[in-house]
Amino acid sequence: MSTFVSMLLMFLVIILVTQVSANNNACPKCGDIEVPYPLSTDDNCGDPKYRVYCNDGILEFMSAGGFYYKILSIDPSAYKLIISPPSIQANTCYSSDLPLGGLRLDQNLPFNVSTHNTVMLLNCSDSILPSPLNCTAASICRQFEEKSEEGSGCRNTLCCHYLKDSAMTSHMIRVRVGGCTAYTCLVNWRSGASFDSWDYGIELQWVPPQLTLV
Ligand SMILES: *[C@@H]1O[C@H](CO)[C@@H](O)[C@H](O)[C@H]1NC(C)=O
Ligand SMILES: *[C@@H]1O[C@H](CO)[C@@H](O)[C@H](O)[C@H]1NC(C)=O
Ligand SMILES: *[C@@H]1O[C@H](CO)[C@@H](O)[C@H](O)[C@H]1NC(C)=O
Repeated sequence: MSTFVSMLLMFLVIILVTQVSANNNACPKCGDIEVPYPLSTDDNCGDPKYRVYCNDGILEFMSAGGFYYKILSIDPSAYKLIISPPSIQANTCYSSDLPLGGLRLDQNLPFNVSTHNTVMLLNCSDSILPSPLNCTAASICRQFEEKSEEGSGCRNTLCCHYLKDSAMTSHMIRVRVGGCTAYTCLVNWRSGASFDSWDYGIELQWVPPQLTLV
């Protein structure tokens, strides 16, 4: 067989295996949302390392602490999904995942927090000021507190925002009593983008599954 033909065959086999594993193993829809491979709602579909949960027709991601975050959208070709930031309890400035220390991802799992997130930390104590955060009166967290219903319980407290880039830990967004007690997050926020155009969410990324030819 010529090298060209054998390379072509190999190429076709790879495509076939990819297609088969992607089609046969994709999980059924959860509510209205598709669950693309490798995400897995069940041991019998997807790749069980990429576990997500379908609870009463709502697709959710579970943190290392056991807190469920609603999945808002999934982009399988970019290996990304966006989860909803936790709610902030009415009339307080406490994120609902505060008892768990905020969002923590299990470092042994193939997910991390992408570098496209602008995090706003709310009701912070002075002790966090020396870190590389923007806690000025111009920080966008002020707009969140003034203009959104959800942020209203956090008004007149110290707040900050920062771009969660690769220089920071990619497995957590931390909140705690005595630090900052609430947070929210925007995906792909560009400097100057107006409040009405903000896209709330936390973008996570996954390591693509290794293709194995058996
Ligand atoms: C803080 O953020 C605001 C809003 O993006 C920006 O105008 C300002 O220059 C930032 N300040 C610092 C010190 O980075
Ligand atoms: C802000 O955080 C402190 C503890 O760090 C807490 O005592 C206080 O109740 C919080 N404020 C609001 C409005 O939730
Ligand atoms: C997150 O995981 C992706 C895929 O493995 C990797 O390319 C990226 O560098 C990781 N991001 C961070 C901030 O560690």
